[in-house]
Amino acid sequence: MALTIDLLTLFPRMIDGFLLESILGKGIASGLLAVKVHDLRSWCTDKHRTADDRPFGGGAGMVLKPEPVFAAIEALQTPGCRRIYLTPDGRPLSPIIAKDLARQSHLIFLSGHYEGIDQRIRDGMIDQEISIGDYVLTNGTLAAAVVIDALARFIPGVLGEEKSLTHESFTSKLLDFPQYTRPAEFRGMSVPEVLLSGNHAEIEKWRDARQLEKTTAVRPDLLK
Ligand code: ADE
Repeated sequence: MALTIDLLTLFPRMIDGFLLESILGKGIASGLLAVKVHDLRSWCTDKHRTADDRPFGGGAGMVLKPEPVFAAIEALQTPGCRRIYLTPDGRPLSPIIAKDLARQSHLIFLSGHYEGIDQRIRDGMIDQEISIGDYVLTNGTLAAAVVIDALARFIPGVLGEEKSLTHESFTSKLLDFPQYTRPAEFRGMSVPEVLLSGNHAEIEKWRDARQLEKTTAVRPDLLK
């Protein structure tokens, strides 16, 4: 069954081009997933279409108001859908989370902004909170794009070659081995001899060793 994603954002144009490009664009074009981008402001009913307000208790920045978000999610949600808020204080995105999301049939993503969103939205309307890393973006729209890209790769048929999923970083808990293509000699830099040898056992051994070497140097935490 195809996956439908509704994305609620104050910056719908931030994601438009992204959805048309590359593997994700092809997945959408071939009907394997559908992404609908909604401007949260269309659920703001006051004259000035106000989506945010100053925080109670004081502090800098603005807070996303509950009314438009409740109205939007109530209009879009379906039985059994998953409502997700992108936030730096959410659970870190992982392949396990991406795979789980790819198995759903309807996701609603809420992108926050500024200082955050009214807590009552999180308490009443959100099922899952996801962070894409320990840094703060100006709003969650790019974070939603990252999550959509990461989950799309787990939807059967989105990646041309099913094999490309099995051999890569993080499904194996090791970082990738180096890749080379033609020409075998380029500006004095040559491709490692073993890769040209046709000896598959030796190639596999070489690749395993490079993966271990790279992981030890860059991400020793993955080896624990
Ligand atoms: N919104 C702002 N920063 C974010 C992050 N790191 N992850 C998810 N959503 C965000």
